[in-house]
Amino acid sequence: MQLIDGKVVAAQATADLAAAVAQLTAAGHRPPHLAAVLVGNDGASETYVASKVKSCEEVGFRSTLLRYPATITQAELLAVVARLNSDPEVDGFIVQLPLPAHLSAEAVTLAIDPAKDVDGFHPANLGRMALNLPAYIPATPYGIVQMLAHYQIETSGKHCVVVGRSPIVGLPISILLGRNTYPGNCTVTLTHSRTPDLAAHTRQADLLIAALGRPGFITAEMVKPGAVVIDVGITRVPDATKKTGFRIQGDVDFAAVAPLASYITPVPGGVGLMTVASLLKNTLLAAQRRGLG
Ligand code: GUN
Repeated sequence: MQLIDGKVVAAQATADLAAAVAQLTAAGHRPPHLAAVLVGNDGASETYVASKVKSCEEVGFRSTLLRYPATITQAELLAVVARLNSDPEVDGFIVQLPLPAHLSAEAVTLAIDPAKDVDGFHPANLGRMALNLPAYIPATPYGIVQMLAHYQIETSGKHCVVVGRSPIVGLPISILLGRNTYPGNCTVTLTHSRTPDLAAHTRQADLLIAALGRPGFITAEMVKPGAVVIDVGITRVPDATKKTGFRIQGDVDFAAVAPLASYITPVPGGVGLMTVASLLKNTLLAAQRRGLG
């Protein structure tokens, strides 16, 4: 079994980003600028956004965090999006999800200019990605394909089984890995909560991607020996031994599955470390497309 080490792949991506910023600024351009909109004070969202801002600093990007109270109205939030769409100083921006219940994430996503949609959530980007046209690929799936490429894992002709069809992970990774490119050319099965006898599918997987958000759900009996196992889960579970009172747990029962797998991502230290680096890669691309590069 070989560990797919998120630290190693993310460090490479971060070094590449820092080098690209140095090149831009040496050519007299300003650094790429990512803006993040955070509504309310959901604990996990606070952590993710803080990590995005910190990573921007590390690679020399400019970042702006726009915070709004949970009471912001839909119209006010759409006005924030419109302002960011037309701000020439902002290359790309994200609105951190989930939003409070009275706000429509769908309406907000549709309002974002696809050229600044570095989350890759707008249907224009999803459609472009499906057609293998230049697009912003959502950060987590983008991170997964970079990890597969870094370890030169063969995907062509392999059977990939994805568990979970969320629009930000399961759905896009199933499209990406079916494309006629590398990593890709998989035969993809997209499973979800209505799939009967899920284990019968997962046991067929050469490449198993667990993205359902249920800690320890994938057990050894569900995995074919020699499979490549990618764990996207990042659920907070209560843990009194931790300062924070919780620990992060993946969707895979790592201790039981790792000995069976050819490659496996740990949690923490796996896919999660790649998502921010991927968001920044999209932001660099946005800056370059705007004529900075
Ligand atoms: N919430 C969980 N993941 C993400 C993400 O990748 N982008 C945004 N905007 N919100 C999220």
